[in-house]
Amino acid sequence: MSKEKPAGSEKLWGGRFAEATAHSVEAFTSSIQYDSRLYSYDIAGSKAHAAMLKRQGVLTQDELDAVIDGLSAIEKEIDGGSFVFKSELEDVHMNIEKALVDKIGPAGAKLHSARSRNDQIALDLRLYLRDQCDRFAVLLTDAQKTCVSLARHYLGDIMPGYTHLQRAQPVLISHHMLAYYEMFGRDRQRILDCRKRINLSPLGCAALAGTGLPIDRESVAEELGFDGVTANSMDSSGDRDFAIEFVSCCALIQTHLSRISEELVLWSSQEFSFVDISDKFCTGSSIMPQKKNPDIPELIRGKSGRVIGSLMTLFTLLKGLPLTYNRDLQEDKEPVFDAVDTVSASLSIMAELLGNLRFNTDRMKKATQTGFITATDLADYLVMKNVPFREAHGIVGRSVAFCIEKGCELEDLQLDDLQKFSPAIGEDVYAVLSVDGSVNSRLSTGGTARKRVEEAIEKAEKQLGMV
Ligand code: ARG
Repeated sequence: MSKEKPAGSEKLWGGRFAEATAHSVEAFTSSIQYDSRLYSYDIAGSKAHAAMLKRQGVLTQDELDAVIDGLSAIEKEIDGGSFVFKSELEDVHMNIEKALVDKIGPAGAKLHSARSRNDQIALDLRLYLRDQCDRFAVLLTDAQKTCVSLARHYLGDIMPGYTHLQRAQPVLISHHMLAYYEMFGRDRQRILDCRKRINLSPLGCAALAGTGLPIDRESVAEELGFDGVTANSMDSSGDRDFAIEFVSCCALIQTHLSRISEELVLWSSQEFSFVDISDKFCTGSSIMPQKKNPDIPELIRGKSGRVIGSLMTLFTLLKGLPLTYNRDLQEDKEPVFDAVDTVSASLSIMAELLGNLRFNTDRMKKATQTGFITATDLADYLVMKNVPFREAHGIVGRSVAFCIEKGCELEDLQLDDLQKFSPAIGEDVYAVLSVDGSVNSRLSTGGTARKRVEEAIEKAEKQLGMV
């Protein structure tokens, strides 16, 4: 006997409720403001699920056709902006399902057979992040290409290499840029490795324990392009390791971006004047008319705080959470989305900025001509003359102290002055004391000699398909 419907039954889960949900509760629990971004994945998952239900005899062909057409129509409405998401319907899953039931009736109401929102949201998030992995791999490749183009363009130009932000040894600008090529390359590998663990289907785990209905998880996984299905229904419905891994990759990418940003901020200062960041990528001051500020690298550096913060949010969310699904997990989406948006925007604007960067090569070279930057080369020279390294270190240290006192550089010293520190020093020392000689002597694998750097550029260009 059908009684008067209680207010709560307007909800898809309203059957056991006698009272309507409080508005404050609807507002507090709703996630539609942000999870609507998952709609295309939710719909793709539902279509694959429905097709499987038909194969298993749970839906008829007519019902399946109606579900597919209905979902396609809803997707079009959402794409076109005419679909109205309702916060009283909580989330993206129920907004779409309710719209489907309203559109096609009973067939729509069968769609949720053998499925829970718990495996549904795990599915949507995995599909979404899988796409983001592919997108990030492209963005990282673009950033790598920009670094390699700069390395190619400035091949042969020399700058000081730093440790402790003190001039240490001369290096090629190209070598410095290729360091970032390596970092972005590792980031790309990490993202693609993380993709492997994302790319397993949780659908069919249902609420937590699996289902008694005759489903075929493997065929749905295959249809959605997954490499397989997850193994344990309880693990899968509450698992967000894959999201933590993805955001951890994001945090490391943003950390790398913050390092190059920091260098750009320093290098574009008047104190360094190593680079000119194009006007297009700078902003001015509202009070100081002379200012040209490196806001883009500053913001990228600053945004590493929010990405690392998102990672901490996810860890804290999962810590101590009992199996299986808990509503806490709804809080996973905003940090994930924020990390995706922040890192992708930072990566692409950094690539754009680097593509427009001009190095002041004269100034950079000049900076290698003071500060005893070839002192290590003199020590190595002595080692080759059979002086034990520790002794050589002392000899060069005393020579440097002598130069500081005289106010000159090592290469300004006369041979007999140098020989006072070690009789092993001969006329050939001057080749070693030159900055170019120093750079080109560093032929060890991974070193900064032009020959090595040129090989590294060629390898990178090949790997990136730039030649
Ligand atoms: N909106 C929820 C989330 O994002 C979907 C799953 C809700 N499941 C549930 N039984 N309440 O996690």
